Amino acid sequence: MDLHTTAVHAGDRKKAAAQIPVTTPVYAAASYICESMEQLDRVMGREEAGYSYGRYDNPSNAALEEQVRALENGHGALACASGMAAVQMAISTALADRRKSIVAADALYGATVGLLTKVLEPSGVNVRFADICDLDAVRAAVADARPGCIVMETVSNPLLRVGRIDSIAGIAREAGAALIVDNTFATPLLVRPLELGANFSVHSLTKFLSGHGDVLGGIVVSDQAHYDTLRTLSRIVGPVLGPFECYLAMRGIKTFPLRMERQCANARRVAAWLAAHPGVERVHFTGDPAHPDAAAIGRMFPPNLFGAMVSFELRGVGKPEVFRFMDALKLVVCATSLGDVHTIMLYPAMSSHREISPERRERMGIRDNLVRLSVGIEAPEDIIADLEQALR
Ligand SMILES: Cc1ncc(COP(=O)(O)O)c(C=O)c1O
Repeated sequence: MDLHTTAVHAGDRKKAAAQIPVTTPVYAAASYICESMEQLDRVMGREEAGYSYGRYDNPSNAALEEQVRALENGHGALACASGMAAVQMAISTALADRRKSIVAADALYGATVGLLTKVLEPSGVNVRFADICDLDAVRAAVADARPGCIVMETVSNPLLRVGRIDSIAGIAREAGAALIVDNTFATPLLVRPLELGANFSVHSLTKFLSGHGDVLGGIVVSDQAHYDTLRTLSRIVGPVLGPFECYLAMRGIKTFPLRMERQCANARRVAAWLAAHPGVERVHFTGDPAHPDAAAIGRMFPPNLFGAMVSFELRGVGKPEVFRFMDALKLVVCATSLGDVHTIMLYPAMSSHREISPERRERMGIRDNLVRLSVGIEAPEDIIADLEQALR
């Protein structure tokens, strides 16, 4: 065989060895061959399980999808190229055969607000915001908007409000709407929305699940009723996560429960310390017994696990002083993300909620003195010492 031909074909498409690799390799192939054209026909027609084309599915994706599906106790999952792609896919699936109307929590991640108001609304979807922590307000919004779906976060970004997923799932069911829950902040260690009646649980894989700041990804876990539509739409739209990112995410997820337990414990220590500091006006933390949603938290969260996010307001300061405080931090990383092994601080007005108008931010309670801390796995004394020196 000519060297040019050998270079293209040698080494590839060998029958796999009888031994099974202990972890799932990175399957970079964009397409797959079958024993025969008849079998390929059945695989492409989804009459037989298997792989045909990378946009449809891939063994690296399938392994990650099974891992997160099992953690969330769902029927099936779709790994996406980002958390936002996952949110978008869940909404498209929920609305595929329902009224093009959405009731959304008025406290949501900024890009999710942007998806609703700058992408979906202009394309004809009716969007109505409601206080997701007030069940009467949710009922009224649902009666008024007759939504095809309700969109909420288990723990809202950045003020850490918690709505009752089980009750909201009941309201959605009665109205014939689907419930989509962004479970990024809570993670399946704390809450599994599908067990509480939600139809979709969505994650930014970029955050706690992957946990090392080296993967951008998202995932939708759905119930049985929506899974076929989710995959059909994905085959067309192609929002899929690349195989290498799937590998990295799977590797991160293996230690996610250990990391998360440590991060939750660290967050409790840091939140208690901040609450006692004279330079801190207010601490938002789900473990605070005086949290406005303490009843929902007590009902849904396991004992002593409250999440690793702590938002706090600095006393009597504006943006320049907040910038000075953040610039003074030496250990805490000031960056746009959360959920990593290292402690990260973010300024919501400039970052996660930048694209939201100042008036809307004010209505959401996101003031210029608010910072958001994602507590990492470091020794808590070191995190506190860094905050202390920067607050001086
Ligand atoms: C709650 C929440 N959902 C979704 C996203 C979007 O995730 P990604 O950045 O992976 O698209 C984020 C990002 O910060 C988030 O905080």
